[in-house]
Amino acid sequence: MISEKSVQEIIETAKVEDVIQDYVTLKRRGVNLLGLCPFHNEKTPSFTVSPAKNIYKCFGCGKGGNAVQFIMELENFTFPEALRHLAKKYGIEIEETQTSRESIEERKQLDSLYIITEYARDFYRDKLFNTDIGKSVGLSYFKERGFREETIKKFGLGYALKQKDALTLQAINDGYSIELLRKLGLTSRFDTDFFRDRVMFTIHNLTGKVIAFAGRTLSKEKKVPKYINSPETEIYIKNKVLYGAYFAKRAIRQEDECIIVEGYTDVISLHQAGIENVVASSGTSLTTGQIRLIKRYTPNIKIIYDGDPAGIKAALRGLDLVLEQDMNVKVVLLPEGEDPDSYLQHTGATDFKNYIKEKAQDFILFKADLLLEETKNDPVKKAALIKDIVASIAKIPDPLKRSIYTKECAYKFQVDENILVDETSKMIGAAIKKKRQKEQVNSPEAQKRLTEELLSLEPSPESGLGEIVQKQKNRSSSAIEYQERDIIRILISGGDKYFDADKGISVSAYILRNIEDVIDDFDNKDYEKIAKECRQRLLDKVPTNEQYFLNHADSKIQSIAVDLVHSPYEYSENWKAKWDIILTTQPDPEDNYMKDAIYAVNRFKLKKVIKMIEKNQKKIKDDPDNYMKYLKIDMKLKAIRKEIADKYGIVVLK
Ligand code: UTP
Ligand code: MN
Repeated sequence: MISEKSVQEIIETAKVEDVIQDYVTLKRRGVNLLGLCPFHNEKTPSFTVSPAKNIYKCFGCGKGGNAVQFIMELENFTFPEALRHLAKKYGIEIEETQTSRESIEERKQLDSLYIITEYARDFYRDKLFNTDIGKSVGLSYFKERGFREETIKKFGLGYALKQKDALTLQAINDGYSIELLRKLGLTSRFDTDFFRDRVMFTIHNLTGKVIAFAGRTLSKEKKVPKYINSPETEIYIKNKVLYGAYFAKRAIRQEDECIIVEGYTDVISLHQAGIENVVASSGTSLTTGQIRLIKRYTPNIKIIYDGDPAGIKAALRGLDLVLEQDMNVKVVLLPEGEDPDSYLQHTGATDFKNYIKEKAQDFILFKADLLLEETKNDPVKKAALIKDIVASIAKIPDPLKRSIYTKECAYKFQVDENILVDETSKMIGAAIKKKRQKEQVNSPEAQKRLTEELLSLEPSPESGLGEIVQKQKNRSSSAIEYQERDIIRILISGGDKYFDADKGISVSAYILRNIEDVIDDFDNKDYEKIAKECRQRLLDKVPTNEQYFLNHADSKIQSIAVDLVHSPYEYSENWKAKWDIILTTQPDPEDNYMKDAIYAVNRFKLKKVIKMIEKNQKKIKDDPDNYMKYLKIDMKLKAIRKEIADKYGIVVLK
């Protein structure tokens, strides 16, 4: 475990703009920096970085946090991995502590797996370069294929000897545990090597750690499988791994495109030829996990299929999955009998690049053409084909893209566009209904998502849509909770400021004292948790400040803090209307903590009083025996309401 002290040091040292600039081009906009969000596809920048607050926030997709979260999100790192990454960047030495025995064991367990995979990679490499058979069979095979020595080393290629237990014996001799070798699938139950008499490919995870192997036979024997792969393990979850991703990620981001090929050798060949934004699906169809992995780097996918028509059709079916993730998918078909590696060897890098640029076709239109050719003039088949294509189109979340495809396909199939539109809508409606049945409709999360989906059905320009959804979100939450939110926003961002410097009263002390009687009464329980934590810390004399919450250990609270202090709506609309004059005569609205606090407290109290009045009035109706008692309470409450309202000029509507 990384010690709390080190965690703090890293968080304090890591400049969010520094860290983000490694990935995103940022331009200054006032006190903030602005750029294109790396987490969603956008054309106008809404990704904001505040160097002063040391946080980022995207107003398009809502993602936000500090430098650590940015790295976690972007690189798919765990919290400790992100910390280690930043520590390295800033040259901070990490102090380790002992915590729970279990987590140490877990970490040790994983680490020891990585130690063994690395050992095995070195073993296979050593056999490739330093044994006669390795050199004459393995190395010469790779060289024949055109792999240069540096490429062979970079990708961790190797050679597994024919001997039945070469690796196992050596590893045990060097003190490694047979259990772990077995766990990784390197050693069989009978203590023999899993990979024998094969050239070896190392499989890495996104951070470059060795997680598995694939071995290719050089035998021409039909019965021998061409490739065998490590089994799934704790560190090798197949549907989340793309071969070559570690070496490709930088280029994928730079080129804003990910090329997907089928084979290990294709990746290595293309990479060596300078086409580095390439990964392999390893012969299987793409999984959602793999697509999500790519999506972190780019929304654009180009799939290069080997020129073998039968395989392509099968592959096409799986591709709707990619559309669902709102990726732009293009496909390139190679000439019959070629795979990327062979075609590259034939044409050279320049021609290859041109070919995949020119021949890239949009996936849906490609699919339409391919199937259309099949159906020729058979009307029954054609109807089925249209359904198939419509199903693909319906998977696309972006309404603008959908409408373009509908038009194009209507033209291709010679059918009325409206028919396609109707069909698509029907399918989307059905999909949403199905989803709704699955989810708890009443959870706010589900509601939000539904609103977004339903909104997206309205054809509207791409750029406007995000805005509408965002506005909708802000509006609904502000209507319900903005009094509470304001209180919390002030507690977080200005709680440590003086409310009254002469008397030594802080803003948080003022607020908490004033809402003491209703502190258990928050509608939003996360807000209540924050208020109570502030109170506890005030009592303990370790007051909070903005940075404390922006880096809060509870990720939910932290994300609330980021949202609140980085909100595009600094003040609720009423607040602004009311204090506009004052704001304009004061240079920095953020220094208006006193007025802000008074106003927020009173709005908050007013809201609670109104709620109490409503409850009490219900009792008047429901409990006529105690009518007089409740009526008195009613009068008292209304007096309080009037007092607050009058004092601060708030109009009570009810
Ligand atoms: P290919 O047969 O196209 O192999 O399978 P390749 O990578 O191009 O190899 P060479 O160029 O013929 O030497 C494509 C991918 O399918 C998976 C592997 O990931 C391979 O790279 N595959 C293929 C297997 O997992 N097992 C097999 O038996 C065959
Ligand atoms: Mn191939």
